[in-house]
Amino acid sequence: MSQTNIQLIRGFKDILPGETELWQFIEKSAITLLEDFGFREIRVPIMEKTELFARSIGEDTDIVEKEMYTFADRKNDMLTLRPEATASICRAYIQHKMASQDPVRKFYTIGPMFRRERPQKGRYRQFYQIDAEIFGVASPYADVELIFLLRTLFDRLQVTDTTAHINSLGCPVCRPRFKAALADLLTAAAPTLCADCLRRKDRNPLRVLDCKVPGCRAAMANAPSILDYLCDDCRTHFDTVTDTLARLDVPFEIDKQLVRGLDYYTRTAFEIQTGALGAQSAVAGGGRYDGLVESLGGPPTPAIGFAIGFDRLAEIVAASNPDVANGPDLFIAALGDTARQKAFEWSTALGCEGIGVSMVYERKSLKAQMKQANRVGAGRVLIVGDSELEAGQAVLRNMADKTQQEIPIDALVQTIKRAMENG
Ligand code: HAM
Repeated sequence: MSQTNIQLIRGFKDILPGETELWQFIEKSAITLLEDFGFREIRVPIMEKTELFARSIGEDTDIVEKEMYTFADRKNDMLTLRPEATASICRAYIQHKMASQDPVRKFYTIGPMFRRERPQKGRYRQFYQIDAEIFGVASPYADVELIFLLRTLFDRLQVTDTTAHINSLGCPVCRPRFKAALADLLTAAAPTLCADCLRRKDRNPLRVLDCKVPGCRAAMANAPSILDYLCDDCRTHFDTVTDTLARLDVPFEIDKQLVRGLDYYTRTAFEIQTGALGAQSAVAGGGRYDGLVESLGGPPTPAIGFAIGFDRLAEIVAASNPDVANGPDLFIAALGDTARQKAFEWSTALGCEGIGVSMVYERKSLKAQMKQANRVGAGRVLIVGDSELEAGQAVLRNMADKTQQEIPIDALVQTIKRAMENG
């Protein structure tokens, strides 16, 4: 009977050894930086009640309207695989009454998100985010801190071809005035708008501003700028953000068309954009969401955050930095049953000392084992046969400079450790 191989779900992917080293490197760099700035890890479930996302991200957004993986579980509760982390972190902040202990909290989380978008380069249905959020700080310095952290992380990862785009989306006081001004233009432009924007025109008019369809772009070229409609408080906030970024030498561009695809934003919105990923230009995005915690039933709590598209960042870093993957520190080539048994014991002892060891567990010729050592990219090879065991000496070969030294078997672990430490 013929059986077809089961394949991945479309838009999902495996991240294989060879790539995971780079992912770990990025993850460690992000965690180190965030923890140095006082962020603490939070882990939230990958599934939540659908209502959480509908109420926070917004019923009229693309994400909620058509991209969520939503299903009824066996008790007919509507559940959704998280399309982002911010809503879940807000839920946790409220549920665990964190505001009553200390309203100011800085969190980060790293993990998979799910959106049923059309897959293409840089766009997946399961993708990963590095997410950071600051709760309880209304000051524009929090906004600057997050944009500064993104810049610093990208610099450390040698990602230079990016620009921070910044806008203000105003607040419930000033945004309605802007929407009213936009409405007239949208009514006039209706015949040239795409089908999506015709729908957005009344329900979510700001989204028309950043539609990429040429007809909509042309119609919006002369759209009013939301920055001209900001109330005094939003204006002062935005000016402090841009002035402070300039003082810290963080490059940015003011982008009055930047809107973002989630409804919870107020005031500062930003994206880190790159030319390196084709159509998917945003490698990170975020903004302030001062009303969200309260709208989900919590106390009034200003908040702001960002999420980095981990897959996209990894693709950019891989292009400039392909060699993060490392072979083991040591390969043990053992000849003979007793030597192989000894070699296995050493490999466990060396592993516990933090020295990565690889070896072949089956009987193989020296030539085959040396080939394997080369293939896995081992820095050094320890060669030991039954006669070496008898003589109490093994051979340690440095694969880079091809030098060899004899080392005494009775102090083997310590001698190898010292050799590794000395490079
Ligand atoms: P977002 O802009 O929807 O914001 O997503 C953030 C980043 O996730 C994007 O800039 C992109 O790099 C990556 N991303 C989004 N969708 C995909 C996809 N289908 N495939 C690959 N990468 C993707 C948020 O999710 C907000 N929660 C950010 C935030 C945190 N705002 C405040 N706090």
